[in-house]
Amino acid sequence: MIPERNGRLMSSELIPQESDAWTHLLLRARFGVNEIETKLNILNEEYQFFHSYNPIEHITTRIKAPREIVRKLQRQGHEPTLENAEKYVHDIGGVRIICSFTKDVYTIAQLLQNQSDIKVKQIKDYIKNPKPNGYRSYHMLVEIPVFLSDHVQPVTVEVQLRTTGMDLWASIEHKIYYKSDAAVPDSVLDRLKQCAQVLSILDSEMTSIKADIEKHVK
Ligand code: GTP
Ligand code: MG
Repeated sequence: MIPERNGRLMSSELIPQESDAWTHLLLRARFGVNEIETKLNILNEEYQFFHSYNPIEHITTRIKAPREIVRKLQRQGHEPTLENAEKYVHDIGGVRIICSFTKDVYTIAQLLQNQSDIKVKQIKDYIKNPKPNGYRSYHMLVEIPVFLSDHVQPVTVEVQLRTTGMDLWASIEHKIYYKSDAAVPDSVLDRLKQCAQVLSILDSEMTSIKADIEKHVK
């Protein structure tokens, strides 16, 4: 039984003898996220300098709460141990990048992938291949070396890139029911999917408008 306090699970309460190790795991995830965030800020600022344009609207980061790590392990059928968290939960550190245009999503993804200290472990392109419910985003699992006091630690970070439109859909859908066990009527699923399609058309239309404007400016 895993102890909880006020509905919150403290990392120190997971497995007492390993609490420092859990804290260190979360700390390493934070360092990995910080490294990726710095890289993104550099790319965005340099892009602004050369092209007078920011491909990144904004960036959000999060470290998965110990409670969520345990839940994910249990969903996967694993014991909630530190070893399993390191082995099976690849999104303890997460970075979400919101761009104005789909093209920018691919530009930023490519620029990150090209960096010599980044190892791309997985790519899931839900923009080219949306999920059946309509979800679109570009996901990568990347590994980045973090220089600690006595060794270099490779840290895996989940990077999600999306347009503002994709983000609008995902946030609302998440609020409505993502991962809830409640049965959702087919009519609701259809309407959500239609919304995703409308937003996809909007993304294409905005890209096309931008291209037209650029032609006029030249
Ligand atoms: P997780 O167990 O959720 O990490 O899923 P996964 O390991 O199968 O990976 P996937 O790349 O499919 O999804 C990872 C993350 O993308 C999720 O944690 C969500 O943040 C987001 N995501 C994926 N699918 C959906 C979806 O249908 N709706 C919403 N709102 N978010 C999604
Ligand atoms: Mg996840």
